[in-house]
Parts: sequence; structure tokens; C-alpha cells
Amino acid sequence: MAGQYATLVRDDRVHGSLYTDPTIFAEEMDRIFRRGWVFLGHESEIAAPGDWVTRSIGLESVIMVRDRDGAIRVLANRCAHRGNRLCWKERGHDSRFQCIYHGWTFGLDGSLRAVSHKAGFDPARGDMPLDRAGQVDSHRGFIFANMSGDAGPLADHLGAGGRALIDRLCDLSPSGRIHFGAGWIGHRVESNWKMWPESDSDGYHLDFVHASMLRAVPDNYYDETVIGGESKNVSRAIDHGGGVNELDLRPSYRRELAWLGTSRDKVASYCAALEARHGKERADRLLWDGPPHGFIFPNLFLGEGNVARVDPVDVGAVLHVHTALQLEGVDPALNRRLVRQSEAGLGPASFIVPDDAIIAERMQLGFQGLKPPLNESDNGPGWVDLSRGRARESHEANGTRVGHVSDETTNRSFWRHYRHVMESRA
Ligand code: FES
Ligand SMILES: [Fe+2]
Repeated sequence: MAGQYATLVRDDRVHGSLYTDPTIFAEEMDRIFRRGWVFLGHESEIAAPGDWVTRSIGLESVIMVRDRDGAIRVLANRCAHRGNRLCWKERGHDSRFQCIYHGWTFGLDGSLRAVSHKAGFDPARGDMPLDRAGQVDSHRGFIFANMSGDAGPLADHLGAGGRALIDRLCDLSPSGRIHFGAGWIGHRVESNWKMWPESDSDGYHLDFVHASMLRAVPDNYYDETVIGGESKNVSRAIDHGGGVNELDLRPSYRRELAWLGTSRDKVASYCAALEARHGKERADRLLWDGPPHGFIFPNLFLGEGNVARVDPVDVGAVLHVHTALQLEGVDPALNRRLVRQSEAGLGPASFIVPDDAIIAERMQLGFQGLKPPLNESDNGPGWVDLSRGRARESHEANGTRVGHVSDETTNRSFWRHYRHVMESRA
């Protein structure tokens, strides 16, 4: 229904039924996840021809594979004969995909290579390749795809803000390349998927939800960047437009390498390599600034030393899956340190995601049974307030909006783009 999402998503609040209504969820899977760009993974995961991993685009399982010619293909993980799932494992290396139901065989490009007991099929039936993504593209090794093929250029989807966030992460590597060699860890959470773009970019809750982390790890860098409210730090919440947003911690750092919890003498070879690539001034800047904390619509979270995907499962369930940042060509001890940091932050026994998961599940319970508002003037129960900082955020000349790190500028960024996508693809 045209205008439905303008009723549900206002400038300063959204309605709780957006998290629980199965019809809305089905429309999101089509308009956002089938017809728009979705983050899948990294080129390093399928480095050699024949390497593949399974991922999902919305609810659809796909195979992301390196073809013989080096190209990256994204194929529906569904046999073209009668629909059997082709790959059950998370990753593998093959020269072809063979379906175990009736033995049909497909090439790495999804083409149908062999049909068992062929005489029974009418040759006029024609080719039957695997369905595949209409567009596949990458930025600095980050692979995105969409099934429909009419999502426009990836560069436009990412925008200058999204590209800059990914660039900042990759520039921390002395080669300019990162890799995803540390593997993924996933949390299944009984919440709607949209609570994660919200929570991952929320600078307002750390004092409370993560109070135990602050007590257990005194002097961690969040103490100086996001804790203590508006009077204590000068970090910023930024809406870059297009559903890209950021908690910019850089203005609050009081020393270089705070984000890595170490000092220059402990990682001297890394610092020297970074300087050799970028020159002293830029290398010094990178060592101060560290990796970004940003979100790229609809499902990519750049969580400082982590990269995470938000994969919807159903209207009330989601997989939040993350991997540790790994820098190419550095001392293995540095990458091990990054894995340990990731485990402490986002792992199943860590300080951050398990606490956020509890909040998301409690919110999900709170929204059960809400009826969507009927029209613009329906102010019935169940609204989610997202007004914090709206009156004081600045509108910059380049189109970004900037607020205090504790403001809901980032959440409004997500929802503004959500409303645009859901309305424009209605
Ligand atoms: S379903 Fe795959 S060969 Fe029949
Ligand atoms: Fe959190």
C-alpha cells in the first residue's frame, strides 16, 4: 500500500509493528534483500578458483564461488531440476556442483553441465542453469550482490560515506588489503533483524547495557570515547545518507593505538610498514584513528576490529554473524591479538553481543501483538521514540547530519533510508 511506510516510519519515531508484522517482513525480503545490494563476504574467502562459501540473501541460500576465470559468481543454492539444496556445508572447494537427488551437475558459473539418464528429457526444453544473482560487485574486496539485477551501481549504493568507511578499514593494512581468515561466529537471536542495525550503531546504551564490561575492563577505550554521556566526550554520531551511518570515535581518542589497546613499541614493525606505505603523516593519523564503527544498509556492520553481517531468519529471528579484522602481511601475533579482541567483544562469552542480544529479545517480546497504525493521524500505542538529538544535530554542506555520539542520529539514518527503499520499491 503506497504511503504505508511513511505512516509507520516518522522522522522521530517508528512503530513497533515494524518488528513483528509478517507481511512487512515479506515485503522487506523482496524490496530490500532481493532488489537491493546485500553484503555477502570477502574475496579472500574464495581466493582460488573452485573455492566456495554459502551465504544468504534475505531468506535465499546462495553459493558465492570463484569461477575458473577468477570471476566471482553468486548462485542460488537450489538445484535447477527440482530444487534440492546443493551445498550443505559452509565452505568447500569443487570443480563443479552435483545434486545428490538425481545427479545433475552444474559448472562453477551455474551452467548445467550434465543431466543423468538424459534420454527421457525433451531436448527442446533448453538450458536449465542455476538461478543466479543479477549483479555481483565488490569494493576493496567486500563482495555485494543482488538477485534482481536492477539495483543500480554498487558505488551509488555505498555512497561516498560507505566507501570511505571500508577504505579506512582496509587502509589499516600495510598492503591495503585485509582478509577474513579468522572465520565467522554467529549468534542466532530471537529478534527482528532491524534491531541490529539499530543496536550496532547506538551510542546511547553503553553506560547501561554494557556496564559489566566497563567494570570488568577498566580503562578500555570506550571509557574515553562513548561513556559518560554528552558532557564527557566529543565523539560524534554521523548520518552519511543512503542508510550509511557512523559512530565517529576519533575526536575522543587521547592517544594513538588506543583502539588496539597497545603502544607503538609493541607493534613497531606494523607501524613501520604502515609508514612505508602511506608516509609518516598519514600513518600517524591511521594509528590514532583506528578502524571505523559504521553501518552500511542493510546488513553490513563495520564494528571496529570486527566485520558483521545481519542475516534475517524470519520476522522474529536473525543471525548476527561476525569475523575478526585480519590485516594482510603483518606479524601473525598482531592478527592473533585482533582475534582475541574480537572474541572478548563479540564472541559468545564476550561482553557486548550477548548483552545486546538480551535487549533485542526483550524488545521483540514488548512489540508482540501491536497493530500497525491506520494513517498519519493514528497515534495509538506501540511507538518507538528515536528523537534524541534531533533538534541539535547539524546538517553539513555535504549532506551528512552530525550529532553527539549518544544521539539517535544513526538510528534515524537507518530508518530514513528504510522508508525510502520500502516506498520507492512498492
Ligand atoms: S533435484 Fe537436483 S537433480 Fe533432481
Ligand atoms: Fe551494545
